[in-house]
Amino acid sequence: MSYPYQIKSLKQYQEEYKKSVDAPEDFWATIANHFIWHRKWDQVLDWNFYEPTIEWFKGGKLNITENCLDRWVETQPNATAIIWEPNDPTEPHRTFTYKELHHKVCQFANVLKNNGATRGDRICIYMPMVPELTIAILACARIGAIHSVVFGGFSAQSIADRIQDAQCNIVLTADGGFRGNKSIPLKAVIDEALTTCPSVEKVIVLTRTSLPVSMIKGRDVWWEDEINKVEAQGNPMCKAEIMDAEDMLFILYTSGSTGKPKGVVHTCGGYMVWTNYTFVNVFQYQPGQIHFCTADIGWITGHSYIIYGPLSAGATSLMFEGIPTWPDAGRFWEIVDKHAVDILYTAPTAIRSLMSFGTDPIKEKKLHSLKVLGTVGEPINEEAWHWYDEHIGKRNCPIVDTWWQTETGGVLISNLAGITKAKPSFATLPLPGIQPILVDENGKKIEGNGVSGNLCIQFPWPGMLRTTFGDHERCRTTYFSTYENLYFTGDGCLRDNEGDYRITGRVDDVLNVSGHRIGTAEVENAINMHTGVVESAIVGYPHDIKGQGIYAYVIFNGIHIDENQTRLDICQTVSKIIGAIAKPDKIQFVTGLPKTRSGKIMRRILRKIAEGELNNLGDTSTLLDPLVVEEIKSNKL
Ligand code: PRX
Repeated sequence: MSYPYQIKSLKQYQEEYKKSVDAPEDFWATIANHFIWHRKWDQVLDWNFYEPTIEWFKGGKLNITENCLDRWVETQPNATAIIWEPNDPTEPHRTFTYKELHHKVCQFANVLKNNGATRGDRICIYMPMVPELTIAILACARIGAIHSVVFGGFSAQSIADRIQDAQCNIVLTADGGFRGNKSIPLKAVIDEALTTCPSVEKVIVLTRTSLPVSMIKGRDVWWEDEINKVEAQGNPMCKAEIMDAEDMLFILYTSGSTGKPKGVVHTCGGYMVWTNYTFVNVFQYQPGQIHFCTADIGWITGHSYIIYGPLSAGATSLMFEGIPTWPDAGRFWEIVDKHAVDILYTAPTAIRSLMSFGTDPIKEKKLHSLKVLGTVGEPINEEAWHWYDEHIGKRNCPIVDTWWQTETGGVLISNLAGITKAKPSFATLPLPGIQPILVDENGKKIEGNGVSGNLCIQFPWPGMLRTTFGDHERCRTTYFSTYENLYFTGDGCLRDNEGDYRITGRVDDVLNVSGHRIGTAEVENAINMHTGVVESAIVGYPHDIKGQGIYAYVIFNGIHIDENQTRLDICQTVSKIIGAIAKPDKIQFVTGLPKTRSGKIMRRILRKIAEGELNNLGDTSTLLDPLVVEEIKSNKL
């Protein structure tokens, strides 16, 4: 097996890039020809960024699971598709060949059908990082149902919002999940969520922790029982549903600058081509290698680089149930040695956290198998980059700094491992097909090098979002209306003197905490649900491990409050409404917030104070009550 479209040199990168800009339709048709289609497309691309409408491989018919499974069952049935490493290192790991995975996916696809699932249904998946999660996702795709995976750390309320928004009729979950020394009662959380989700008719529950759960007659069934039924029916195969290239493959909710997360929609054909192309090129994957992406499948990174990218390339993908610091901070390195991992793809926050344990946890580890390292999710600081390079890569593994977003489906800007140059803290160059531009506040294009601006993309690529579920107008206003005829990323960016791109962080009201996207408005809404809170404002501040921490300014109506207790109560409220990932790191009680005369909160000032820049607040004379700033400054945490 080889990948004819894998770029092998800098010169070839430059040539391919040029082709992709000069003749994008020919370029992508050539690549898409390497996949299995039931019918080839009538038109490669039809688009406008005004409505927006983006259609790739229009008229093409396919099923992504035939590209991820069936074709490899024919050519390499006994190659390993998935290696699963459990949370507890003493529990045996599990592996699945392509043949076995295909069988399991067909089997579970039949379970879904037996439980009433049909093409176009939305199925919510709230599961731990076990192989059955991958099987469930692919089983949905097999029958043309649309999966909506919700990260296991979200609260009942967050799940309910997502289920209601997508009108899901089936939920797939487990009794619980293991993470480090904790077990999380997933089914109990689902039960709470479903009290407000009348659209859900069936819940299929996998046994993982054997925590006692309540099972509601007629609604809840056990995964294992349903598999037994399918086996008894004696029909192990499930024909793949033939999908249109532009049919929805999945919805994944992500935070924006408004209070309500939006359901980013990806479609079958373009997403498949994009995740595959980027996987093969960015990581320079070679057949037989073991790819370990440490992300949770609840986020886009897991969708694209644990499941669809690697499996569509016939690769071996390692999925890990646990966390990097349990039972100790050497766990990642132990996994690398145990399974002879070739490619390790993780987040800067994990690197910084492991760095803080020093090099002891690495001492006994060989790490000889590693060939390529990757980072994703947030800017990587130079110190963390060099530590990763020196202690993990032994200065022998190229590091790819991959910039992308839930909305982009796969990597847009990154060096290609060992092919184009790496530069610490720079994502460097766009992939073929990606035309980045920088614009100023007024949307004016900023030309040349050694410049900074807001990062936009001026031409569609196959893996981009098509809409936000149930609300196309929201997609238009969020991404396509800020700057005319451009996709706006929400990120600020520097293009240095050599033309390399460095992402500097969000320019909207979105925080990036430990690589997780969190909307400030969402956290404010959650804090304001606490009965004693009058008003709140959230900003980010630099945090050594998390990248950004959450700083909350809160007006509280109790006079004799026990501040520490109230802080805990507020955090509890946020956990309940959103999930523990959105808990503020610091809560400062204030009597007022700096507002303009029109009532708008001046976040710029609050941000500066949280960052400790007390003497550089800019003009505060236009504030309704400038004195409030003095008070906030003097009580800064
Ligand atoms: O701000 C950028 C940051 O993460 C945001 C996207 O978050 P999300 O949709 O959750 O997807 C994360 C995984 C792809 C971006 O708008 N970001 C992502 N990768 C990088 C990054 N910032 C700097 N460097 C990166 N490599």
